[in-house]
Amino acid sequence: MRAELETLKSEALQALEHVQNSKQLAEWRSRFLGKRGALTQLMRRMGQVPPEERPAVGRLANEIKQALEAAYAERAEAIRRAELEETLQRDAVDVTLPGRPPAMGRLHPSTRTLREIERIFADLGFQVYRARDVELDEYNFQLLNIPPHHPARDMQDTFYVDDGGDSESRTVLLRTHTSPGQIHAMREFAAMNPDDPPPVRIILPGMCYRHEQITARSEIQFHQVEGLAVGRRITMADLKGTIEYFVRRMFGPERQLRFRASHFPFTEPSAEVDMDCMLCQGKGCRVCKYTGWLEIMGCGMVHPNVLRNGGYDPERYTGFAFGMGPERIAMLKYGIEDIRYFWQNDLRFLEQF
Ligand code: DAH
Repeated sequence: MRAELETLKSEALQALEHVQNSKQLAEWRSRFLGKRGALTQLMRRMGQVPPEERPAVGRLANEIKQALEAAYAERAEAIRRAELEETLQRDAVDVTLPGRPPAMGRLHPSTRTLREIERIFADLGFQVYRARDVELDEYNFQLLNIPPHHPARDMQDTFYVDDGGDSESRTVLLRTHTSPGQIHAMREFAAMNPDDPPPVRIILPGMCYRHEQITARSEIQFHQVEGLAVGRRITMADLKGTIEYFVRRMFGPERQLRFRASHFPFTEPSAEVDMDCMLCQGKGCRVCKYTGWLEIMGCGMVHPNVLRNGGYDPERYTGFAFGMGPERIAMLKYGIEDIRYFWQNDLRFLEQF
């Protein structure tokens, strides 16, 4: 019995040396120390040992059991450490690696500029009015004092959708400017009280389309923001004050303005607005073509015919209007040299805003 116990001990210790992982360790444990393990089996045979030897053999068996438990614990600890070390190696995280930033969306530079323009005019009490992109010749031209065959039509080469049969007015086209929205808006406002129409303070942002050669300076689609104020005793001074406020908020309080006489069929008198070049402070540079001035919009006092077409009696009402291109404004503000960037969807361009 003693010999068997000693053999078991050395066999067990030897086997333990080959144990490499926790699975083998568990197997080893049940094989030698488990309820049906080798040691338990041996102890069951204690009855065969002569009574006088039993205490000594029992003590020996206990010592061996403790020795094996201790060896087991030591091995278990070593394996636990090794396995932990291995997972740490395998799942190592380099906390010094730079993170992967989520791709963030952003507003298109045209949208940004449009919103900025809308914000400034909203602060002045102007509402945003949205008009249609697909228009009738009547609204895009005739009601704006541009009759058929008027030379001003040549300035705005048009995309036609439908020739309207024998009625030129019914010809369907893509609007070449946001000005036809003036008529829609005035008619809607006037309809609220035809004898005494309410005052109008609106801006009309939207896409416009022209059948043009695409160049660095002209695109076949672009935004415009139209402005319209109609009421009693509105004067050109109101127009100038409004534009001046807008330009100084958009481009800086030091900006100087120049109103240059011009012609638009739907305004009389008409003007174009120049601001001193913010890049060279008016000294002359490539952006302002060495003139010191940048043209930023057209404007004027609403023509009596246009007021009448909108349902406002030109004897009792006056108004001013203006029109600008947000892409052009954005180009000046951010120093963008080619208008074609706006619709090319090149992320290298778009991500700069
Ligand atoms: N509709 C003109 C254009 O597309 C811009 C414009 C000029 C609008 C003067 C206006 C205005 O309302 O008063 O070129």
